[in-house]
Amino acid sequence: MTDAPETAAPKPEPKPELAHGLARGLTNYGDRDFARYLRLSMARSMGLSTGLLKKPVVGIAATYSEFNNCHRLVPELVAAVKRGVLAAGGLPLEFPTISLGEVFLNPTSLFFRNLMSVDTEEMIRGQPMDAVVLVGGCDKTVPAQLMGAVSADIPAIQVVTGPMMTGRWRGERLGACTDCRRFWAKFRAGEIDAATIEEVEGSLATTAGTCAVMGTASTMASLAEALGMMLPGTAAIPAVHADRIRAAEASGAAALRLAQLGLTPARIVTPKAVENALRVLLAIGGSTNAIIHLTAIAGRAGIPVDLHRLNELSDTTPVLVDLKPTGPFYMEDLHVAGGIGAVLRELAPLLHLDALTVTGETLGERLAAEPGFVDRAVVRTRAEPLQPQGGLVALFGSLAPRGAILKRAAADPTLFEREGRAVVFTSLEDLAARIDDPDLDVTAEDFLVLQNAGPLSASGMPEAGYLPIPSKLARAGVKDMVRISDARMSGTAYGTIVLHVAPDAASGGPLGLVRDGDRIRLSVRERRIDLLVAEDELARRRAAQPPAPPPPKRGYARLYKEQVLQADEGCDFDILRAEPSR
Ligand code: FES
Repeated sequence: MTDAPETAAPKPEPKPELAHGLARGLTNYGDRDFARYLRLSMARSMGLSTGLLKKPVVGIAATYSEFNNCHRLVPELVAAVKRGVLAAGGLPLEFPTISLGEVFLNPTSLFFRNLMSVDTEEMIRGQPMDAVVLVGGCDKTVPAQLMGAVSADIPAIQVVTGPMMTGRWRGERLGACTDCRRFWAKFRAGEIDAATIEEVEGSLATTAGTCAVMGTASTMASLAEALGMMLPGTAAIPAVHADRIRAAEASGAAALRLAQLGLTPARIVTPKAVENALRVLLAIGGSTNAIIHLTAIAGRAGIPVDLHRLNELSDTTPVLVDLKPTGPFYMEDLHVAGGIGAVLRELAPLLHLDALTVTGETLGERLAAEPGFVDRAVVRTRAEPLQPQGGLVALFGSLAPRGAILKRAAADPTLFEREGRAVVFTSLEDLAARIDDPDLDVTAEDFLVLQNAGPLSASGMPEAGYLPIPSKLARAGVKDMVRISDARMSGTAYGTIVLHVAPDAASGGPLGLVRDGDRIRLSVRERRIDLLVAEDELARRRAAQPPAPPPPKRGYARLYKEQVLQADEGCDFDILRAEPSR
């Protein structure tokens, strides 16, 4: 080795990167000063003052899309968030991400949830921001945003678009989408004609916002608040209410405070916060989809959600909220009745009150500071609940070794303890082709079974678990039957419906081995669902199964097929979890 010549100029010390604002995460040109200079010169082309360019940056993940009716007012909310950030002394910078409109996506919005979470995570991480405000609303957007934010782990706060207001039809109050299903069932049963159902169609969804009942979007908004990732009192504010805009402005200011505190999702989404969210899910009679989404969000933080623990919590958490699809009320009623704060205060003795929230306070501090008005018609007391136990229960047994979910709050208790004959549909196509066949061999005592509608199926785990009552039975007045599948169910639906059977049929689970005429035993009391077929017969059927169809060759569909996990693991991609297993 030779010494450097004495005349050589000393190498300049690299300047430490500024910890905040536009100086974060510089583009790699091999020259950090040049990268900073170039970024600022380009930023100045946006007409921003040099003073503003030096401020801490709050990114705003915006999800406006003309393919997403629930997000119609996102631009108004983003404008309000910007006001809040500016007034608090930060620089707001909006950026677009994928938007998932529930009814506009094929095969399902769940198929794209993980894609949106990757988009959200990487755009948060890849762009220079000190905090992020997530503006979402429709069913899969809030889970995707929270999953992405937990993985990116910079300070983050959720704003939701808020629920729709109800509409009126012939003097009746209607809200998407429990009433959509109610009227569709009447149409299928021949109680109303085509002209009437078309008239109803125009009165179900009459304002911007998410579905008006305690469906998946409302449930996820409620859980975001229960997790501590949303400002207090903001989950249930209707989309068109002025308070919704004020909530967005306050969230912008709160995001800047979060950045100053350095309070990241890792300190908020903790095992205690996840358990609080599960309690709220059970107490509001929330959507079954929320189990999948909460499991996926928690999984990004390395927190497992155990379905046996769900049952323990369900046994000790009363149902307090009387919203559709199980009760008469809508989200706008919950807002004026006291919102999720009223539910949290009622549940307080069951909650972990030391869990942190995005305000920097603990849940206990938040609840102690709240006024106490509650409309008891909508939010009951623990002493006089709607039901003494939680709205959801997990079932296990030979038909669902890794679990299945039943929303008992929306089911008929007279069907909870029984044995039935299986009437099997092997796919969604088979279901569509035969369910209304007048020659279908089915009675009201049978169990309808749908196979190949789980996460590994080609259908991408649709909300098809709400199998229609065969029309010959519907016309005879049958309103509910036991229905079993590996599919999901809309949070706006109801019935004695066993969902999320895991492992799913497409991955070789026992559900795929059920045949017409098999006996199945359901016991909600024992938390069991069993296929009453001898093991040697099942082995014979397993060996005779046709080979699985070839996987997609390219693109996102291939990634999905290779990576998606079962329902009990949140249907996340393995590589996206905090600790991938492969
Ligand atoms: Fe968006 Fe129902 S369609 S919440």
